[in-house]
Amino acid sequence: MSDILGEMRRTHHCCELGAGDAEKEVVLMGWVQRRRDHGGVIFVDLRDREGLTQIVFDPKVDEKTHERASAIRSEYVLAVQGKVEKRLEGMANPRLKTGEIEIFVTELKILNTAATPPFLIEDDADVSENIRLKYRHLDLRRPCLQKHIILRHRAAATVRQYFNDLGFLDIETPVLTRSTPEGARDYLVPSRVSPGEFFALPQSPQIFKQLFMISGFDRYYQIVRCFRDEDLRADRQPEFTQIDIEMSFAGEEDIMAIAEGMMKALFNDILKTEVQPPFPRMTYDEAIDRYGLDRPDVRFGMELKDISDIVKDAGFKVFADVVKKGGIVKALNAKGCIGLSRKEIDDLTAYVAIYRAKGLAWIKVKDDAWQSPIAKFFSDEEKEALAQRIEMEPGDLVFFVADQPKITNEALGHLRNHLGKKLGLIGENEFRFVWVTHFPMFEYDEEAKRHQALHHPFTAPLEEDCGRIKDDPLSVKSRAYDLVLNGSEIGGGSIRIHQKELQEKIFDALGMDRPEYEEKFGFLLSALDSGAPPHGGIAFGFDRLMTILCGQPSIRDVIAFPKTQKASCLLTNAPSQAAKAQLDELFLKVRKIKAEDA
Ligand code: AMO
Ligand code: AMP
Repeated sequence: MSDILGEMRRTHHCCELGAGDAEKEVVLMGWVQRRRDHGGVIFVDLRDREGLTQIVFDPKVDEKTHERASAIRSEYVLAVQGKVEKRLEGMANPRLKTGEIEIFVTELKILNTAATPPFLIEDDADVSENIRLKYRHLDLRRPCLQKHIILRHRAAATVRQYFNDLGFLDIETPVLTRSTPEGARDYLVPSRVSPGEFFALPQSPQIFKQLFMISGFDRYYQIVRCFRDEDLRADRQPEFTQIDIEMSFAGEEDIMAIAEGMMKALFNDILKTEVQPPFPRMTYDEAIDRYGLDRPDVRFGMELKDISDIVKDAGFKVFADVVKKGGIVKALNAKGCIGLSRKEIDDLTAYVAIYRAKGLAWIKVKDDAWQSPIAKFFSDEEKEALAQRIEMEPGDLVFFVADQPKITNEALGHLRNHLGKKLGLIGENEFRFVWVTHFPMFEYDEEAKRHQALHHPFTAPLEEDCGRIKDDPLSVKSRAYDLVLNGSEIGGGSIRIHQKELQEKIFDALGMDRPEYEEKFGFLLSALDSGAPPHGGIAFGFDRLMTILCGQPSIRDVIAFPKTQKASCLLTNAPSQAAKAQLDELFLKVRKIKAEDA
C-alpha cells in the first residue's frame, strides 16, 4: 500500500539530537513553529511533543527541495529527511536543547497544510483563555500544555504502579447510577426506557467502593471521573478526576501511611523532590483556631489570635456586641506592614467583604503609640493585653474582624492567605503537607434547616462521641481526615460506618425519615447487614494535585479539555439544546426559559 508517508518513518523526536549525532541521516516529523527566509537559505523550527529542532533548506544541498520549502507556512505538517550537522562556531542556540545542531534537508514531504492559527503556538502567547479554550486542540500544542498533559500521564502511571505493587485492585464503577451524595448537586441523565426516571452521575464512587469491601476485594483503587454540579472556582471542575482508594481491616493510621507513600512516590517521580512522611497532623479545631480555615497553608506563620476575652467589655461597641451575641473577635498581625496606605487597607476591607465580614478594623503600631480609628476605645489594660496576645511590635499593622465564628475565621483565614502571597512570605518550590483530623460530624444548614454531614453520611463518628449523636450532634467529631498541601485540600477520606444500626442512626440525625433512606440507601443498609468488614479510604483530587505538581494557578491548565467557570465547553459548545425528537423519546419538555432562569 502506498500512502503519503511512503517509506518514510520517524527516527527521532525533535528534542533528541545533539552534537554527538553529527553526520547521522535522520527523519523527523512535526509541525512548523516558524519559517525564516535568510537570503536563499530557509530555516524552519520543527516542533513535536518533545521539543524543537532547526531544519535547513539550502539550495546548495538540494535545489528542488529548497524551492518546495518556500511554500511552507506556520503549523504545516512536515516529514523531513536529512543529515545532522553541527552548527557553525557562534551559531549554537543555548536556549534550545537541540541548539548545537541543525538538519540539512534532502527530502521533504508536506503532509498537510494548515490555516493560519488564531494565536501563536508559544508558551507566552498573549491571548484570552476563552479563545484558547475555543481552539483547545491548538492551545494543547503549546509546549507548556504538552508538558502538563505528559506529566499527568506519568503521574497516573506512578500512582497505578504504586497501588498495584501494594496489592490494590483497579476496579471500575458505574457512571450511570443513583445519587452518590458528596454535598453537591447531581448531574441527571434521563432514562429512555423508564420514562420519567433519571440516572445520577456519581459525585464519587463512594458507595460502590464500600460495596467492594463488603464483597471481599479488600484493597481497591481507581483513577476515576466524578461529576458535581456546584459553583466553580479556580480549583473546581464539574467533572474531575479522583485517585480513589478503599481498604478493609484498616484504621486511620494505615490509610494515612498508604497515602503518604503515594505522595512520596509522586513527588519523587514527577518533581525529583523528597517529601518526608509522616506528615504533621492538626485537628480541625486547631486549624480553625490558628489559621481560620480547615485547609491551612502552613508555609508561613502570621497565625490568627482570638481576642474575644480581652475586648468583650471594651468601649468599642462593635467588638463587645459581637462577643455578647456569641461571636468572636480575632486579630491578624501583618508584621512590618505599617507602610500600607489607606487605599491598600480599603482594598483589603473590600477583600474580606467577599467573605461577608462587615468591616476590617486596624491598628498601626508606631514606636510610641497606636495609629488607629479604634485605639481610643481601649483602656490601658486592654491595650497591654492586646499588645501581648498579638505580639505587637513597632512597624506592625494588625487587622481585626468581629463576627459569628464562621465569618470571622473565613474572612481572616482568606486575608491571611492573600497577605501571605502579596507580602512574598511563601517560598518557591516549598511543599508543606498537613493532615487535618477530627472534623465535626455534622454542620447545621441554615437554609435547609437541618444537619448535613460535613464529609459524607457514611463516615464513622468517633466511638466516644456516639452517645451524643441524637442530643448534641454538633459536638460529635468524625473519623474523617483531609490531606492539605500548601493550603489546598488535595484529598479527603474517612473510616466508614460498617454497622447497619449506626448508619441508620446517622441518617436519622440528618433528618431523613426511614422511608426516605430505605428508598435511597436500602441497598447499602442491606449490604452492611450482610457481613461488612471494618473499612475506610480516601480520595485525592488528581487535577488539584497536578495543578500543584505543574506549578499552575488554575486547574484548567492541567486538564486536556476543561470546562469554563460556567460549566461549558467552548470547543464543542456543550451543553447544547436537544432535538425535539430526542426530548420526545425521553418524555421531556423544556419549559420556556425566562430571562431570570438563564
Ligand atoms: P471529597 O468530596 O473530599 O471526598 O473529594 C476528594 C477530593 O476530590 C477533590 N475534589 C475536586 N476537584 C476538582 N473539582 C471538584 N469539583 C472537586 N471536588 C472535590 C478534592 C477533594 O479533596 N468519597 C469521598 C472520599 C472518601 O471518603 O474516600 C470524596 O469524594 O481534592
Ligand atoms: P465604624 O465605627 O463602623 O466606623 O467602624 C470603625 C472601624 O471598625 C472601621 O475600620 C470598620 O472597618 C471596622 N469595623 C466595623 N465593623 C467591624 C467588624 N464587624 N469587624 C471588624 N471591624 C469592623
